Amino acid sequence: MRNKIVAGNWKMNKTLEEGKILASEVVNMAADEAPSDVTVIMGTPAIHMDAVGKLVKDAANVAIAAQDCSAHEAGAYTGEISVSQIKSVGAKYVILGHSERREYHNESNELLAAKVDTALAADLKPIFCCGEALETREQGDDVAYKFVCDQLTASLFHLSAEVMTNFIIAYEPIWAIGTGKTASAEQAQLMHAEIRKHIAAKYGQEVADSVSILYGGSCKPSNANEIFAGADVDGGLIGGASLASRDFIDIVKSF
Ligand code: G3P
Repeated sequence: MRNKIVAGNWKMNKTLEEGKILASEVVNMAADEAPSDVTVIMGTPAIHMDAVGKLVKDAANVAIAAQDCSAHEAGAYTGEISVSQIKSVGAKYVILGHSERREYHNESNELLAAKVDTALAADLKPIFCCGEALETREQGDDVAYKFVCDQLTASLFHLSAEVMTNFIIAYEPIWAIGTGKTASAEQAQLMHAEIRKHIAAKYGQEVADSVSILYGGSCKPSNANEIFAGADVDGGLIGGASLASRDFIDIVKSF
């Protein structure tokens, strides 16, 4: 049995006060409304993590995630955040390989493999992002499947079967992020099935079946139920809709 997860990615949004308000609302609403088998995660900017970490400390099924981490343990890396700093505010997860960081910060598959190793060594759970650009998708579904599977091979397939068990992957078609152009439920399910098949070919079906594969890309309360109905869709990584507590919790309830 794999875990159902709905993670919010606040990206670069919310002042300190706005973040406290949003996080308090999410924690309170999740306590009252979230299904007990769904893990709710808030991926907040670093400035929020201490305060939000304190809010979720006693929450049964709510946790926080960093939006990135350094591949280095500590030291002269101006502007970066280390896994030990992330752990020190109570975070259990870290989003890695988001397409915006791959693009704007030139994060290679190789760098991301190093970040995954650094996070795992600190007992942080990566939420590893993958996804293709529109021009890749337009070359054909099989081209898109291969591109995404190659991302996983390059950054994750050095990991042992034990470590891959219960791993968390987020498939985010770049052409659906922030565009309002959501992948259809069928497109999401087909890609998730290809990802799971690719993992099974390397690690075996039992490990592949334990991996939570989340969908991200214009996931909203209006489409989440249909997307989450996919046999290989285990939840979502939510951007814009995570910035409003009602929308975010409605997505959490969409299984
Ligand atoms: O990480 C989630 C994000 O990339 C999706 O953004 O705004 O399309 O839900 P959005």
